[in-house]
Amino acid sequence: MTNFERAKLMIDAMMPIADLHVRDATAEEFVKRRLQMLTEEYGGRLLNSGRNPIDYSKITTHIAYTYRSLPAHSDWMYKALTHARKSVLAKMTGKKVRVACIGGGPGSDMLGVLKFANENNLNDKKFAFAILDREKAWNGCRKHLVDTFEGELTVSQKHISLDLANGSPWATNWDWLDADIFTFSFVLSEVWAFNEKRSVSEFVDQVIGGAGEGAIFCYVDNGGDNFIPLMEAEFDNRPDLRCIFSRDFSRLLMSYEEQSSAVEATYRTIFGQSPKLKGNVSMRVWKKI
Ligand SMILES: C[S@@+](CC[C@H](N)C(=O)[O-])C[C@H]1O[C@@H](n2cnc3c(N)ncnc32)[C@H](O)[C@@H]1O
Repeated sequence: MTNFERAKLMIDAMMPIADLHVRDATAEEFVKRRLQMLTEEYGGRLLNSGRNPIDYSKITTHIAYTYRSLPAHSDWMYKALTHARKSVLAKMTGKKVRVACIGGGPGSDMLGVLKFANENNLNDKKFAFAILDREKAWNGCRKHLVDTFEGELTVSQKHISLDLANGSPWATNWDWLDADIFTFSFVLSEVWAFNEKRSVSEFVDQVIGGAGEGAIFCYVDNGGDNFIPLMEAEFDNRPDLRCIFSRDFSRLLMSYEEQSSAVEATYRTIFGQSPKLKGNVSMRVWKKI
């Protein structure tokens, strides 16, 4: 199954639940509004200090995000891991692969790792995800994603509360720090605006410093001159990280097998927008040494 096919199944499962939550307008109408909200939020004001955090608490926002961004972000996470395939596979030799997804709320990072697992025939392994995020409500959305892997891969996932903006101790527990793989997908670009007291920088430093030898760090996020230097300031020139893959794409597309018609055939007219298919994206993969 492709990411778009999984997204379609997730949306099919969430729409009837959303119908039970909404008042004064249909679930479809609310999803349309959430799509407009996300387009405005991501459209140039992410770095504005003093802005409010984006509200991801509502199921109609989860549907909007699953439709709009999840398939592309997952595919790009998969691509980044594939560019560093040899080193990533070397860290996946155990029976259980532990992955910590920082800001992994909707499950995009998880899907990227699982697409990599499928493509590399890792079906005999167990994949255990710790999803660290400010928004607990994403859990429902991710459960629908895990359901699409039934009979295909063995997957478990748990939510851990994390607020990157609030300083130490950031997370409610740190038992995920021995993960094999750490993912940062489109999360840091969203929290730099809250880094005046260096809360985000100090968290990244704690995670890299505390991770085990050989751990893989996979970063996929908005590219361009506004974002790249912020990331480089935290990850580059560290004596404990070796860069395995680094590339900035001004117009990154999705893999050829990903066809948005899988969701658009049913939902394009209803939601009034097309999913994200390309982006100005930076990818980095590092290994802890
Ligand atoms: C743009 S979404 C990216 C989600 C996913 N990683 C992806 O690539 O599609 C940003 C994520 O960061 C989370 N987030 C936003 N502010 C946060 C904070 N202060 N601390 C922790 N997570 C935060 C959101 O809940 C959301 O899941």
